[in-house]
Amino acid sequence: MPKKAQKHPIAAKKKAAAKKAARPVKVQQPPKTQVAPAPAPRPGLTPQLLRGMRDILPTEQRYWRHVYRTVDGIARSYGYERIDTPLLEETGLFVRSVGKQSDVVEKELFSFLDRGGENVSLRPEGTASLVRAYINHGMFSLPQPVKMYYIGPMFRYERPQAGRFRQHHQFGFEVFGDSQPVLDAEVILMAHLFYKDLGVKTVVHLNSLGCNICRPNYLTELVAYYRSKRSQICEDCKRRLAKNPLRLLDCKEPGCAALRETAPHLVDFLDDECKNHLMRVLEYLDELMVPYVLDPHLVRGLDYYTKTVFEIMLADETQPGQYALGGGGRYDNLVEQLGGRPTPACGFGIGIERAILQMKNQNIEPQDDFRPEIFLAQLGDTARRKSFQLFEELRSAGVRMAATFSKSALKAQLETANRLAAKYTVIIGQKEVLDGTILVRDMESGMQEIVDYNKAVAEMKKKLGRA
Ligand code: HAM
Repeated sequence: MPKKAQKHPIAAKKKAAAKKAARPVKVQQPPKTQVAPAPAPRPGLTPQLLRGMRDILPTEQRYWRHVYRTVDGIARSYGYERIDTPLLEETGLFVRSVGKQSDVVEKELFSFLDRGGENVSLRPEGTASLVRAYINHGMFSLPQPVKMYYIGPMFRYERPQAGRFRQHHQFGFEVFGDSQPVLDAEVILMAHLFYKDLGVKTVVHLNSLGCNICRPNYLTELVAYYRSKRSQICEDCKRRLAKNPLRLLDCKEPGCAALRETAPHLVDFLDDECKNHLMRVLEYLDELMVPYVLDPHLVRGLDYYTKTVFEIMLADETQPGQYALGGGGRYDNLVEQLGGRPTPACGFGIGIERAILQMKNQNIEPQDDFRPEIFLAQLGDTARRKSFQLFEELRSAGVRMAATFSKSALKAQLETANRLAAKYTVIIGQKEVLDGTILVRDMESGMQEIVDYNKAVAEMKKKLGRA
């Protein structure tokens, strides 16, 4: 009988490990029914918004434009390029980065099986996707550091309350491939500058979570501390004690929060490298005059952080909105953890709804971005047709134009021109159509002038300094 070939023990181990890695990660398995059957139509009933979701109405858009412009300005100054990643990713990406025991993955993921049976999730945050993209696109071969930013919706099945939604929007800045503390300071500065540019005063809460070398010593001490108080901690924390003890410092239960006050501090356990890193970051922040407080209990809700972690809070503790207006930190192990080369990285994310709530609470008016150079008003049907033509000739010549073609009363049109702060209003009425002219009104001086219709584009460009 031929002998069965013996498997090499290392090869067997490798095969088993590969098999394990390929196994799908289990996380709050979505129900077996892959796609919910279409509900029977209920005539007469208007579908409603899902809980925790919001429409961003036209009246609110000027706040959003203001935020986007501010983010874009900061990104250009500091050399960050925009990246867009899909809203839907394989669930394993978040389990392996944000952490299986984190609330975001354990309780808040919008996960389901797609039609092909794949376990997918709506992204709860942006960092994991950027790390995936950095690896997938071989960005380690680009000149480092690679600096990117993103803006878009994120999904977390949270209990909705003030400033907390199930769909929120975040922008984030991430920098890959450089471990210097100056980059921690740069991202903290940018988060601070964003709010400063909006006109919101903030303070940075900061801590260091150390690294894989020094953190285990701290965790041993932390676990010993909480074990001695086991009867006083909540059921969730009893579980966390075995699986993810840092999370205990994050627990909002009153009993656990009280115990946190006398818990050991991670900064006392930092090794020389991590301590030095923290000191350098603080020196930069001092020089940049970024206000900060050291917060020994700050651990953040996501598992990937190493060394610096921070959150942006309102400077005035008496104002409404005492939650994180943004947060971030360093994550030097995450790229490697997701299968890439060892690559240090850091970044932050800011919730746009929270930023806009602050603008509203503090009566900060967004700067309106669109000021038309010419408002075109018309009177009568023939004039309307003529003005459509002129409008398009001027617009395609690069002039910022506005009009309300559906309005026929001149008064209402001039009111709109005033509200939009147009530089000039061009009026075409019956008389102008017959004479082949236009009437140009300088909105600042009130002076009026008649101009030949055929010379209108050239004349208006000259007035606007574009000739
Ligand atoms: P995060 O602290 O989970 O961090 O979220 C960043 C910010 O998004 C929060 O500070 C808050 O302003 C906003 N936010 C989070 N959840 C909600 C919600 N349910 N409703 C409204 N706003 C919310 C992260 O997501 C990390 N990816 C940040 C980061 C980037 N770390 C390194 N790089």
